[in-house]
Order: sequence, then structure tokens, then C-alpha cells
Amino acid sequence: MTHRTCIRNARVVLPTGIESTSVLIEDEQIAAIDPASHSRADETIDASGLYLLPGVVDDQVHFREPGLTHKEDLEHATRACAKGGVTTFLEMPNTKPNTITQTALDEKLRLAAAKCRVNYGFYIGATPDNVGELATAQRTPGIKIFIGSSTGNLLVDDQQALERIFAETTLPITAHCEDESTVRANTARYEGTSDLPDHSRIRDHEAAIVATRRALSLAKRHRHRFHVLHCSTAAETELFHEHEGLITAEACPHHLFFHTGDYERLGSLIQMNPAIKSAADCAGLWQALKDGLIQVIATDHAPHTWEEKQQPYPQSPSGLPAVENSLPLMLNQVNQGRCTLEQVVHWMCDAPARVWDMVDKGRIAAGYDADLVLVDLDLRRAVKHDEQLTKCRWSPWHGETLQGWPVRTWVRGQTVYAEGGIDDSARGAEVKFDHARGGYWATL
Ligand code: DOR
Repeated sequence: MTHRTCIRNARVVLPTGIESTSVLIEDEQIAAIDPASHSRADETIDASGLYLLPGVVDDQVHFREPGLTHKEDLEHATRACAKGGVTTFLEMPNTKPNTITQTALDEKLRLAAAKCRVNYGFYIGATPDNVGELATAQRTPGIKIFIGSSTGNLLVDDQQALERIFAETTLPITAHCEDESTVRANTARYEGTSDLPDHSRIRDHEAAIVATRRALSLAKRHRHRFHVLHCSTAAETELFHEHEGLITAEACPHHLFFHTGDYERLGSLIQMNPAIKSAADCAGLWQALKDGLIQVIATDHAPHTWEEKQQPYPQSPSGLPAVENSLPLMLNQVNQGRCTLEQVVHWMCDAPARVWDMVDKGRIAAGYDADLVLVDLDLRRAVKHDEQLTKCRWSPWHGETLQGWPVRTWVRGQTVYAEGGIDDSARGAEVKFDHARGGYWATL
């Protein structure tokens, strides 16, 4: 029997703007916007005073399963997603084993079907010699290349190998852009350092710009769709002007909100790759988002345990958790007048869904999946380590009071999070990718 839920009187963020209306869910899909007032519903929710958004699509997370589950796992990570209004994630291949074959990809999808409370997809990772796997990979948003190394041992730095990957594959490509040679030379220069701010001198502006320029050149020469992950400098965004139509780019909350002046306060909790840069870079990334040079906000959620993070630099690992706070961080910015709710929905929901050719995701429209998040823009709440659902149970935003929080999250029509808790019986589904759509620019 069809189950119908009607969300009444919400301020709904539609593709055409914000409207006070009702949304009817039938089983897993949005059946109608502004349904007839007599339409029957099994459940009616009065959402007066609240905003209804498409669920957040986070296209860059590290959920550590299989192999690194002392840091994070699919169960904890997707409970955290549900609380944060993230209804779909795309996960990176630097797990153990690395996701570099169809077999490893299928195994992750099998684990995810059993454990994930939200919808899921997994990238296939590039190595210098798996181009055959990359060329035939199925059930994936695309190919991830570590052009510079980060956590784990994935790295493709060799020019010939990079040329082959861009020449012989058709899936969209995305990359971690920090130049390996620059990072190695800087590491030698700062050999023996235990001064954390040196992390930003080792993984410096030059490292980011050189690698991004190199990747853009590959994309342009091979006419290959390409997405720049976690852009960290204002200078990289200057490079995007001449690539409109072919490439898309992304910024992460930590690069938008933290700068090198924050190391003193937060220490290795904000040690990340690419490294945190200057306050001017934060401002440049914001400007690039507003100018449309960066289209996507994603978290790069990359948890390590508190104990691991407390080791002295450089033993302290790079990465921080963010899926449960990324939307509140941005809603707080809406409240502060820095951006609009429509912009947030574009950057966090619609744009990433389109970059990766997701079927029926990222919008509130009839026929789309009922992945929805109801938010209270007036609710003020502090981020606290011990309230985090992510397995590592810490946040670099601990102690900050944010205004604007999810109060309820639906994944394919089922409530996964409501004030008071997570429904652990809920399961997400594998995201379908229709790469013939041609990505962000083709669907404008
Ligand atoms: O700081 C980072 N940590 N950056 C990455 O790109 C990878 C991530 C991780 O997996 O820990």
C-alpha cells in the first residue's frame, strides 16, 4: 500500500525560489508540490515556521570502511549525516583495501546496502597502472586521482600515467590537487620541524596552484570532464575563468572558515590536506562561490581519533570530521547575511547532484526522491564534542553556537532523523548515475 506523508505550511526551497506551500511524499518520492487540499495523507506534518530543503549531497567524504573502522564506519558516519541533513554522500577510495577495482567497489556497495542510513556512492581510485579498471568501472560517480599524496598510499604523479587516465577513460575525473614535488621539496626544507603552522608552509599556495593548473591542462587537452576537489587558495579560483563549461570546483567548510591564524587556538584539529591557508584565501573562496567559479560545497569529512590527532606534528594525521555540522555552519551564514538560503541549496544540494549526474537528487520537485531536510533557521545550538554522532566524537567547531539546524531528515520518504534521535531501521539506497547527461554545465 502506498504511504503518503504531507508536509504542510513549510517555506519550501524550490528550484524557482522559496514558496510557502505543502509537499506530498508518496512512498520514496515527492509526488506533488502544493497538492490539492483534499489529498489524503497517512501522516501530516505541520511545518509552520520551518524551511524545507532538498537533502544535502556531500560529494567528498572519507568514511574509513573497510579497514580503518577505528576512526569511522558507515554506521556512525551515516547517523551523523542524517543529523546534519546530509541525505547522500560520495565516498573516497583511500580505505583498506583501496577502492581501485570493480571488485572492491562492489564490496563497498554491498557493505553500504547493509549499513548506510542515507544514500551512497563510491569513487574508484586511480593508480599508475589500473587504467583498464577505470575505463570499465560501473556503479560509480567517477574516478578519483590523488595527484598529490595525502592519507593512505594512493598517488598518480607520473605525467604519462596521468595522460593515459585522461585519454583512455570516459567517467568524470576528480582530483586531490597538491603538487607532490613541491610538497617533498618543502618537507625537506622544514625537516625536523614540530611546529604545526609549518604544515601550511609545506603544503603551501604553490603546491595547490601548480597541481590544479596541471590537472586543468589535462582536462582541457583531453576534453575530459573534471572536478577540482577542496580548493584552498584564491589564486586557484582565478584559473577557473577560462575553463567554464568543462570543469567544476568545490570548497570545504574548513577552508571557508579557518585560516592559519587559527592554529594557535585549534592546533592539529584543523590540520588538513590541502592545508589551511590565509584569511585572504577564505575571502577569495567565498567570492568564487558567489561568482559561480566554485559551484559545490562538500565537507571532505576525514575523521581521525582524538588520540591520533593529539600526537605532536608531524605524526598528527591530516583530516577532520564535518558531515554533521556543514549545513548548520552554512545556515548560520545565512542568518548572518553572508549568503542566501537559495545559494546554500545550490552549492550543497543541486550543484553536486548535477556535477555527478545523479538521477532524481538535489531538488524538491515532483518525481524526485523524497530526500528532504526540515530546518529551523531560528534554532541556536552549540556544537559539542560529546554530542557528535561521528565515531571520533570531536569537532573543530566545538564551543561555537550556530543559528539554523535540521530538525528532521527524510531519506527516500522515510524519517531518519527527528529531534530526539535517529531511526536505525532506515536504510539509504545506491545512487544512480546517468553520465550521458553530461554533468553540471550540460544541465544548466
Ligand atoms: O586532510 C585530509 N585527510 N585530506 C585528504 O584529502 C584525505 C583525508 C584523509 O583521508 O584523512
